[in-house]
Parts: sequence; structure tokens; C-alpha cells
Amino acid sequence: MCGIVGYVATETSLRGSEVVAGGLARLEYRGYDSAGIAVAGDSFALVKKAGPLQALLDELAAHPLPEHSCAIGHTRWATHGAPSDANAHPHVSFDSKIALVHNGIIENVAELREELAARHIALSSETDSEVVCHHLALAYAKTGDLSAAMGDVVTRLEGSFTLVAFTPDDPQRLLAARRNSPLVVGLGDGENYVGSDVAAFVDQTRTAIELGQDQIVELTGTEVSIRTFDGEPVEGTTYEVDWDADAAVKGGYPTFMEKEIHDEPAAVADTLLARTDDTGHLHLDELRIDPAILRQVDKIVVIACGTAAYAGHVAKYAIEHWCRIPVEIELAHEFRYRDPVVSEKTLIVAISQSGETMDTLMAVRHAREQGAKVLAIVNTHGSTIARESDAVLYTHAGPEVAVASTKAFVAQITACYILGLYLAQLRGNKYIDEISGYLDQLGRMPGKIAQILEKEDEIADLARSLKDATSVLFLGRHVGYPIAMEGALKLKELAYIHAEGFAAGELKHGPIALIESGQPVFVICPTPRRPLLHNKVISNIEEIRARGASVMCIAEEGDEAAARAADHLITVPQAPTLMHPLLTVVPLQIFACALAEAKGLNVDKPRNLAKAVTVE
Ligand code: M6R
Repeated sequence: MCGIVGYVATETSLRGSEVVAGGLARLEYRGYDSAGIAVAGDSFALVKKAGPLQALLDELAAHPLPEHSCAIGHTRWATHGAPSDANAHPHVSFDSKIALVHNGIIENVAELREELAARHIALSSETDSEVVCHHLALAYAKTGDLSAAMGDVVTRLEGSFTLVAFTPDDPQRLLAARRNSPLVVGLGDGENYVGSDVAAFVDQTRTAIELGQDQIVELTGTEVSIRTFDGEPVEGTTYEVDWDADAAVKGGYPTFMEKEIHDEPAAVADTLLARTDDTGHLHLDELRIDPAILRQVDKIVVIACGTAAYAGHVAKYAIEHWCRIPVEIELAHEFRYRDPVVSEKTLIVAISQSGETMDTLMAVRHAREQGAKVLAIVNTHGSTIARESDAVLYTHAGPEVAVASTKAFVAQITACYILGLYLAQLRGNKYIDEISGYLDQLGRMPGKIAQILEKEDEIADLARSLKDATSVLFLGRHVGYPIAMEGALKLKELAYIHAEGFAAGELKHGPIALIESGQPVFVICPTPRRPLLHNKVISNIEEIRARGASVMCIAEEGDEAAARAADHLITVPQAPTLMHPLLTVVPLQIFACALAEAKGLNVDKPRNLAKAVTVE
């Protein structure tokens, strides 16, 4: 996790710290335990504070920095060492020759620490990052060449890292390096930038270069040169960022989460955009996997974590139904460390909003080593998972800043459905008119989601009435089952309430023992036009109400059986079964957000979490 920003210019001014502070504000979703900034020009200065970024900004307002030509900043999600001023970045070397920020985990830190102890170099923090900073200073002391020193040090490090460093001896130069952790370069006019992602500098420039695995970049205000850890020069490929800075701010909503829930109609619509040709055939230009290989696929394994994995669960129902290919869902961290059965005929679908989730990335690498093709469904352009997969289908949800995933989830389901329909088209499982019919249904979902958003106040009232609940259960059947699990996850992570999602059919096999008088239970009701499913869920409601549960039911408009059975009914517009998850999840997101707010919690930055989980 952690967010990193770097700035370097030809001129000395106060701009660097302003650019870095702005970048840190947009990167704060990556971690918010502490933040810091170091600058150099005619003089060197460092400020770092435990707590949210605002604590750092207050300190900077009280004690302005000197003019400078380079600046580095960091917002932290603690791995080694508790959140504290001392553990905050940037770190400064024992001889004050190096300032450094780091994202990732150095796995051979014990050995590196011992070497420092042997040289009597004392550590002032508990972090692995400080250890790297001193080693960089030792390497720099040998040659007086920071670039060479960075080259030496990175080859000694094991684990994952993005490093950005400068020396006050040469304040018009920044050095950065990455392995298994993201870094992008932004190209400005007389100044250049680096960041954990483009949000770091998107208000300054839209022209960016993605740094590849095991690469070092050296920047001045006018030059950027990239090389591999082996010293081979690399021609960086520039691209234009299609987000603007406004997309990464709240747009008038009190929280990012509320804004992002309201972005959901656009997230689905944009993800559907430009997928078909004039004849109505799906065209996925990004799919660089040979169609002959896709026709041969005999199993799909979805690898993902958290909410992204629940999107995969939903997709299983659709893809198996449309394509008759078995689909397995694997939590990426479980897939990676067992002995999964995959072959050249297995298609791995890696789903990730950030494209940086380390568990998912490791699983992608493992699957490719086994000979499987990997197709990534990713929201963040140029992210590591996107780059390391055989093909990418981008979701177009725009930047998701709130830690709890909302709009990315509906965009992921949409992208999975596009993939399923594409495979059905390619393999001849569905006729073109059938595929067009499903695409039409998907095309109507943004409007239906917008109708649910109009009920926000009613759902928020319900949430407020449950603000003192200590446990909430969620039940669903068929595609409602993963939505029940997602509803429970949202409530856990936002409102810190014990919540469980169950398959409604599993109720009698154990969970019903949890039901006692007043127990709040959300039930996701299937459409009454699927009576086989619907009747069973209505029976489940009767069973729990008979035992005292207070049932909140999410059901289609006009579902009279659900209206009779529920204590509280939230309706969603009518939709075909497979489209239901795009609707039924929305009230659950609003509910969790409103309940957390009623408890006075920060819904954008829940405790202990970070947006991009870039450590295993
Ligand atoms: O960036 P990713 O989609 O790979 O992230 C996966 C999970 O870490 C993420 O969905 C997490 O569960 C969210 N906090 C859920 O709201």
C-alpha cells in the first residue's frame, strides 16, 4: 500500500511541496497512518507526522518549507512498525545524505539490519524502509553517484518495493526504482513527477510513462532516463491519462463513497461502451488471446480477493449458463499456495479494481508459470496486473477512492458479463440475436440503478434505525448469494458490525441457530418470475421470522409475496435474474454507508484497511 509522490524541477521555488501535498491528498486512500515530505534546494528540510495527512498539512502551514527544486512525499499504511512520527516516511540516512520513501516490504531486512549494526549505524525507526535508506547512503558514500548507488542497492533487496530518493548534494535529481510495487512517471514542462499511480500528478500533467518490473528511473526537470536493474536502457512508452483531477475528487458529495455509489450508473454504462461493431457482434480489441485458444478453454478459474472475488461469484452463474464452461472462484491467496490444477486449456480471469493487489498478482504469475492464459479485468490503466496478464478487459468505473469498493463491483460484473457473452459468441453457444438481447438488458441497468439511488433517504433511515445493532445477517440464493456476502462485507468493513452472508439454502444446516428475537436479517429475494427460486426464499423468510428475526427484504417492485413476508421492504426495478445483482447490491452499499455514518465513522477510510493491498 502507501502512496508516494516525487517532484523535481530545474528552478527552485515552493511548487514542489505544493504538488507533492496535492498528490498525497489524492493518494491518501492508499494508506493514512502517517505522512511526510522532504525537500531540497539550497537547504534540506523534512516534516513527518503520525495521523492523517491533515496533521502534516497543519505542520507545514505552521512551519513553511524553504524553496526547493525537489520534493518527495509519502502517505503510509503501516507494515513494519506502528504508526508514529518516527516510522513515518521520508527516512533520512545516518549521514543526512539520502532522503527516501518506500512502498512495499523488504523480506531480507533482518540480514540488512545486521550489516548496519556491524557498522554501528543506529536505527531511529522500526521500519524496513529506514534500513534501505542507510544502505543507499553507504553505497552513495563509495562513489558519490546516486544513480549507481540505487543500482547497487536494488539488487540486494528481496521482496517488493517502490523507492524514491534524492540527495541534498544534487537537489535537481530524483532516483526511483520498482519491483512488485507500482510506479508511474509524469512528464511536465521544466519539471517531472513520479507517483504510485497517476492520481499523484494528474492535476499537473496527463502525459505519463509506466515503469516496468525491475526498472530504475532517473529524473531531472528536463530529462527522464529509464534502465533495468541490469543496466540496460529502456525506451519508456508514454501514454495519455484519460482521468482528470476532478474525477478523483468528491464532486459535491460529503464522502467519496457516496459519490462513488452515485457514479454506478455511469460505471456500468461506460464499461459497456463501444464493445460491439455495426453488426452487433462483440469486439474486444484488448483481448490479445488467440480466439483459437479461447475456443479450446475447458475451465475458467476466477482469481480475486474481497469484493472483486464476489463479482467473480456472480459471473460464475452467467458464464456457466451462457457458455457451458465450468467456472471456479478462487481467493487469490488460496490459489497461489496450494497446487491448483490448471493447464493450457484453463483460462484464468483475474479481477482487481486496483490492479495492484499483491495476492492476485502472485496468483497471476503462478498461473502463467503453469501454462494458463490470464485475462485481467482491471480498473486502473497501466497497473501491474494489467501489464503482466495475457490480455486485459478494462472496467471504466473511473478512479475509486473510498476504500470500500462500490462502483468497481458493478463495473466488474458488467465486464465479466461482456466476457461471458463474447465467449458464448466465439464458441457458438449463443446466437447473435440472443447476445444482443443480453446486451440490451445490460444497457438498461444504468437507468434502473439510478432509480434505486432515488431511494437513498429511505434506506438511510432504515440504517439509522439499526445503528446499535451488533450483528446483521444476509441471505441470498443463486446470484443473490454472492450479493449477500458482499452486503455483509460492506457492513463489516464500514460499520465494524459483525455480519455474515449465507446461501439461503444453507440456513437449515446451521446458521438458523443464530436467529433469535430481533435479529436483523437482510434477504435478497429473486424475481417472482423464477417461482422455483422465489418460493424457496419466501419459505426461508417465514422460517426465520417464525424464530423472531426482523427481516429486511430486497425484492422486485410488485413482489407481493415478499411485501407480505418482510418487516421492511426495499424494492428494486424488475430485471432478468442474471441482471439482479447489479441492482440488489446498491441498497446494501447505501445501507452500510449510512449506518457507518450514523455511528460517526469515516466511511472513506475505515480503520485498519487500505485501498490497494500491495503486500501479501
Ligand atoms: O483492488 P482489488 O479489486 O484487487 O481489491 C481487492 C480487495 O482488496 C477489495 O475488494 C476489498 O475487499 C475492498 N475493501 C472491499 O470493499
